[in-house]
Amino acid sequence: MESSANRVATGLRCSEQDCGTEVPREYRGYLCPKCGNLLQAVVDPGPSSPEQLKEVWRQRRASNHKLDQSGVWRFREFLPKTPEDAVVTLFEGNVPLIPGQKTAAYAGVEHLWFKHLGWNPTGSFKDLGMTAAVTEARRQGAKTVACASTGNTAASMAAYAARGNLRARVYLPRGGTSMAKLAQALDFGAEIQYVDGNFDDALRALMSEQDPSIYFLNSINPFRIEGQKTAIFHLLDLMDWEAPDFIVVPGGNLGNSSAFGKAMMELAAFGLLPKVPRMVIVQARGSNALVRTVRAGGHELEVVADPQTMATAIRIGEPKSWKKALKAVRFTNGLVIDVDDDEIVAAKAELGRDGIGSEPASATTLAGIRNLVASGAIAPQSRIVAFLTGHALKDTDAILRSAGKQGS
Ligand code: F0G
Repeated sequence: MESSANRVATGLRCSEQDCGTEVPREYRGYLCPKCGNLLQAVVDPGPSSPEQLKEVWRQRRASNHKLDQSGVWRFREFLPKTPEDAVVTLFEGNVPLIPGQKTAAYAGVEHLWFKHLGWNPTGSFKDLGMTAAVTEARRQGAKTVACASTGNTAASMAAYAARGNLRARVYLPRGGTSMAKLAQALDFGAEIQYVDGNFDDALRALMSEQDPSIYFLNSINPFRIEGQKTAIFHLLDLMDWEAPDFIVVPGGNLGNSSAFGKAMMELAAFGLLPKVPRMVIVQARGSNALVRTVRAGGHELEVVADPQTMATAIRIGEPKSWKKALKAVRFTNGLVIDVDDDEIVAAKAELGRDGIGSEPASATTLAGIRNLVASGAIAPQSRIVAFLTGHALKDTDAILRSAGKQGS
């Protein structure tokens, strides 16, 4: 009989602890066959001690080995086991931690850093998840990968699919994607399918596809979460494992906050995170399903039927990973807040003036920190890391509109 350790090292498990149903890694149902909740990968970091792994990860930064050059695969002890030659990588993940200057003063804090995941190969944090998930798609013999997207997932998936020699099909909400993101997806050779409606409608259209040869790459795919998880590992390595007091992340479909939560749970269980940072999820007020859900007690998702915000990346009303994200908030004693579009535009302009730049969805973090400091929920001396998720050039219309220069 297969030992349970072997089975666990390669499997998926229901994300609801009370259910715990296990399925093989190749299971294509995406949801638990018993209770319908999302699945997650079970990882086994092996026999090394926390101190040994810290040392190994630091040494790999100086290595020219293919997997060590990736800021995702460098942390492979916590990723599903994959042979090196199967890995599809664009050497993602190695983004710096930038101290806030004018932005720190704007937020009213002394110690603010930005981890700019928009400085990844396709300009967004999605690359961290795509290297893991496209690798898995290819390992499982898929020929076509597909996703619904507000644009960044599409661009990233298309790039990694091109690297991995797979066909890419993306479902985009008509009129709900910036031109730059659409252009990227086209540049990488994706087939575009427009859906009338918003992101939630596009995701529904994708999920109704019955074609078993298609491998789905939205963040309900557990391998996406595994790759995105490593942003926390990389952050802690850059901070010499002195965890900040707060990490702040924008919330859309809530895959990223779920991934960060999983990272912190695993690192804490392994002994690498003596003090767990509090995670703040910031949503746009017109697309604030998680905020409403928390306010209502957190039992059922409070869907926003017609989500609105100028931050198109997070214009989402029915976030699929809300339960995982809520679990992460509870685990970290975190907070869930929203900011309005004027606050997003103002914070985005401040980031620009600080020489950093980002797309609007990322600027929710700075706006959120400013509000939490003003209300006393964050002390000005706290050490805070905000995750910026997309590059400024992802949405130049937003910049031109805000500067009053469009069409001039
Ligand atoms: N920031 C940016 C720039 C994004 O593109 C997204 C999501 C988020 C934040 C929110 O992340 O969904 O994990 O909570 N973009 C998806 C897309 C929906 O299709 O590109 P999340």
